[in-house]
Amino acid sequence: MSETQPQSGLLIRKAVIKDVPWIHKLVNHFAGNRRMLSRSRSEIYESVRDYFVVEDGGEIVGSAALHIFWEDLAEVRALTVAESHQGHGLGLKLLDTCCSEARLMGVRRIFALTFCPAFFQRAGFQPSPKSELPHKIWTDCLRCPLFPDCDEEAVIKDLAE
Ligand SMILES: CC(C)(COP(=O)(O)OP(=O)(O)OC[C@H]1O[C@@H](n2cnc3c(N)ncnc32)[C@H](O)[C@@H]1OP(=O)(O)O)[C@@H](O)C(=O)NCCC(=O)NCCS
Repeated sequence: MSETQPQSGLLIRKAVIKDVPWIHKLVNHFAGNRRMLSRSRSEIYESVRDYFVVEDGGEIVGSAALHIFWEDLAEVRALTVAESHQGHGLGLKLLDTCCSEARLMGVRRIFALTFCPAFFQRAGFQPSPKSELPHKIWTDCLRCPLFPDCDEEAVIKDLAE
């Protein structure tokens, strides 16, 4: 999958290098409000091939990353929609784009760690005890300034359903 056209003038596509400063700005704007975890530019450059963006007339107004963990598990990360563009279905469209790519890759389950589980539940994700996720996912948590006092919740979806 490379591109989808969610509404007139808007394009969801794979991220490229020039999008990184935009993604960094979006993610860290919401991280500053404690609504998601912050990411450095270097982390985003290293994983830029995980990212999708929403482009509106040359501006990047949304992002989401699909990170593969293991043969049957992937994570949705850094899901953002700029405040100017919220409430028009772009968040769900980005989430669906990540789920579709995971299915295409042959991954069976997709999870997220989030401060807003209710949003993911609208897309068929179920709450899950963090302890049921593999230990490997905690590598990122160990690097996070909020660890171990983080109130992110885990949600997971079985893509075969
Ligand atoms: C969460 C976020 C990605 C949603 O983007 P969006 O484009 O506004 O979402 P959508 O328009 O696709 O919303 C779809 C539905 O989810 C609901 N929804 C949106 N944000 C929600 C939230 N934080 N909690 C619960 N439900 C939410 C909407 O009300 C809408 O419901 P409706 O269809 O009944 O109207 C966006 O608000 C955002 O970037 N927030 C800050 C970063 C963040 O919290 N990211 C989440 C992952 S950590």
